Amino acid sequence: MVLVDVVEGVPQGKALDLLEAMPIEKRDVAIAGSNDYAATANSDIVVITAGIPRKPGMSRDDLLHTNYKIMSDVVQKVVAQSPESILIIVSNPLDAMAQAAFRQSGFNRERVIGMAGVLDSARFRSFIAAELNVSVENVTAFVLGGHGDTMVPLARYSAVAGIPITELISPDRLEQLVQRTRDGGAEIVKYLKTGSAYYAPSSAVTEMAEAILKDKKKILPCAAYLEGEYGISGYYIGVPCKLGAAGLEQIIEIKLTPEEDAVLKKSAAAVKELCAVIGV
Ligand code: 2OP
Repeated sequence: MVLVDVVEGVPQGKALDLLEAMPIEKRDVAIAGSNDYAATANSDIVVITAGIPRKPGMSRDDLLHTNYKIMSDVVQKVVAQSPESILIIVSNPLDAMAQAAFRQSGFNRERVIGMAGVLDSARFRSFIAAELNVSVENVTAFVLGGHGDTMVPLARYSAVAGIPITELISPDRLEQLVQRTRDGGAEIVKYLKTGSAYYAPSSAVTEMAEAILKDKKKILPCAAYLEGEYGISGYYIGVPCKLGAAGLEQIIEIKLTPEEDAVLKKSAAAVKELCAVIGV
C-alpha cells in the first residue's frame, strides 16, 4: 500500500505509523509513503481523496473549482502509472469529481466508482441503531442519490433484523434521522473546524476495496456512471452496485415510488448542474 501526498514528510510519516501497527493488527502489508506517483506504479486500486475539505458553513459544492483542478492533475498522474487500475473517488463534490475522473482517465465506467453511499448509509444506520438501542449489525439501510443535500435515504429499504424501520420509527422521527444523515458530513466539519470526517469515510472505502480485491460480488450503494438506469443517462449518481474483481459489475435497478423517483431525479439534476460548470 502506498500513500501519496504533495506535502513532504506527511505520507512518509503516516505510512511508517501504519506499518508499525501491522504486527498488532496481524497483517503482513508493505506500506510506504511518497511524494512521487512513480511509487504507486501498477496499483490494482487507487483511492483518490485529494482536494481541500470544507470549512464550517461551506457546502461540498463550494469546493468545485479548486478540487476539479486538483483532481485533473492527480488522475493524469495516476493513470500514467497504473493504466489497469480501478479508481475509487472520495474527493468532493463527490459525484462531479467522480465524473471528472471518469472523463479524464478514459477508463470505462466499471473502473471509476465514487464512494458516498456506503458512508451515508453507515451514518443513517448509526442513527437508527442509537434511536432503537439495537446493535448496528442489525441495521441495514440504503442511501441513494448524490452525496449532497439532495441525497436520498430510502427508509422503505431500511430494516432492523429484517423488520422495516417504517414499522419501528414514527414518520416524523424518521424524517429527523434522514435530515441528520443528509447533514452528517457538515455536523462533523462544524466540530473539527479544519478538516472533515476521516474514520467513517475510510471504513467505507475499505469495504468497497475489499469487495473488489476479494471479488465478493457485494451489493453496496456507490456513485456510478448511469447509462439509462433509473431513467438517467450520462451522470454519476448513487445507486445500488455490485462490486467484484472487475470493479462495478452491475447496477441493480430497484423499483422506486414516484416520490422517491422524483427525489433521485432532483439529485441527478443537482449533479448535472455542477458537471456543467466544470464542463465534464
Ligand atoms: C463526508 O461526508 C467528507 O464528504 C465526506 O464526511
